[in-house]
Amino acid sequence: MQSVKDKVIYQVYVKSFMDSNGDGKGDIAGITMKLDYLKRLGADCLWLTPVFVSPMNDNGYDVADYYSIDPSFGTMEDLEVLISEAKKRGLGIMLDMVFNHTSTDHEWFRKAIAGDKKYKDYYIFRRGREALPPTNWISKFGGSAWEMAGESGEYYLHLFDRTQADLNWENEDLRKELYDVVNFWIKKGVVGFRFDVVNLISKPDVLEDDLNGDGRRFYTDGPRVHEHLKELARNTFGKHHDMITVGEMSSTSIENCVRYSNPLEEELSMVFNFHHLKVDYEAGDKWTLKEFDFMELKKIFNDWQTGMEKEGGWMALFYNNHDQPRSVSRFGSDSKYHKESAKMLATSIHLMRGTPYIYQGEEFGMPNAYFDDISEYRDVESINYYDILKSKGMAEAEILEVLREKSRDNGRTPMLWDDSDGHGFTTSVPWLPFAKVPGISAEADLASSDSIFNHYRKLIELRKQYEVISDGTFMMTDMENSHLLCYLRCKGTGKMLVVSNFYDDETEFDLDKLFYETSIDFRKCTFESVLISNYYDLAKVGEIIRIRPYESFALYVEDKHPSC
Ligand code: NOJ
Repeated sequence: MQSVKDKVIYQVYVKSFMDSNGDGKGDIAGITMKLDYLKRLGADCLWLTPVFVSPMNDNGYDVADYYSIDPSFGTMEDLEVLISEAKKRGLGIMLDMVFNHTSTDHEWFRKAIAGDKKYKDYYIFRRGREALPPTNWISKFGGSAWEMAGESGEYYLHLFDRTQADLNWENEDLRKELYDVVNFWIKKGVVGFRFDVVNLISKPDVLEDDLNGDGRRFYTDGPRVHEHLKELARNTFGKHHDMITVGEMSSTSIENCVRYSNPLEEELSMVFNFHHLKVDYEAGDKWTLKEFDFMELKKIFNDWQTGMEKEGGWMALFYNNHDQPRSVSRFGSDSKYHKESAKMLATSIHLMRGTPYIYQGEEFGMPNAYFDDISEYRDVESINYYDILKSKGMAEAEILEVLREKSRDNGRTPMLWDDSDGHGFTTSVPWLPFAKVPGISAEADLASSDSIFNHYRKLIELRKQYEVISDGTFMMTDMENSHLLCYLRCKGTGKMLVVSNFYDDETEFDLDKLFYETSIDFRKCTFESVLISNYYDLAKVGEIIRIRPYESFALYVEDKHPSC
């Protein structure tokens, strides 16, 4: 397996990245047009969200044919051109494999529904109980996780939308079909894969009601998931030493993530987990309004960073993706301190132990969508929950406020390349409205002397230059500090301190105290010791540093003391 420690991966949400043919939707040829921009940023690989044939009920996460490109994204030739043009620039392409489920439009599912026994066993069919579905499990997009299959009295399982039928990984023929898919794309020259909700693929043999929850405890990190991943790896990417793989893990645990990602286990290169992105859920419910709990965020970072390090696991580092609201609106400030907070968030996450992911638009601080009418939303989950919250009696204005904060469409609005009508994204009407954030665009950011883009570029360079970033140990300090996220990274004599203020008021950081606690002395740091900072003048490091709104910096010293 290739080392992923000094790599940075850029996520392209294809439908919203760049429209090359003026149909209002991003496409593969559009990505090729922007390769020089991505090269300039310095990322190593591009992860493309699914580009396969799909009815697009869940924007491609409902695959109807794993071997063909959806015409709305272009052609196979477009993808081949992208792979080779990317390669010329030293960029690798990673594809998104959705193997927990297929679209109900997939040929396998059609045959299954038509009664073909072979294909029926590719999915999870069960008889209902009188008028009730087989179990009380709830779909992640709301409502029952079971859908009646015609008049047969049988139901099929769908952990997501009813048009996304869960696959039966207990069936060996199905598993082999999936390996063929992976090998087909490896031959095309991709450098790796992201596996969608891959910790949900193993369901128990006997499916039962969940009397304490929505069913997830039965199928999350399920009984044979590690066995399945090992077999998948052995038969596909594991045969190639340089493939990069990342598994998306829903509601997972550190213990399982260590197993998924420790190289000795021969499963995946790394994992996404989402615990840190639930700190603004009231009692675990996403569809609520709550200020994010900073102390909880710190605790989760600490637990995962140290837990994964201790047992040799490796994690993806991120605040943003196509399922999340934009981090600058969520954890920073998208008005007064837009640049400061966008850079602070970048520093705070990129310098941890793991592989950083940059989600399109994050590199110039794209904020939330700020839609104010339900007709502006396109996301299946948001629209389902609009109806669910309405049926529970929530007022329209409140529902819209919740969606404004929580909808996945916040992360999916088309790229704001420039300030023109079509924002350099399209020459026609975009499939999803643009975010209502005047003045923010890639062009405007790049034209400024203190661009967010250059901050990201610098972070990527630092990871390649300093082993303390790519391979150092992690130790959180000042755990009780209610404004600052502070951590130390150490590798041999190299010691790095990262301090980030998550709030818009001033505070202080005490280097003396740090010295007495850790024996690492950052008090005599000079201008040269500052690896990165989001304010210009962090030169006068003394015993106490005054930390300004959303200020963040990293200090580096060489110190023989083996303290962390
Ligand atoms: C996770 C993907 O990131 C999300 O966009 C999708 O809706 C679900 N998996 C279902 O495939």
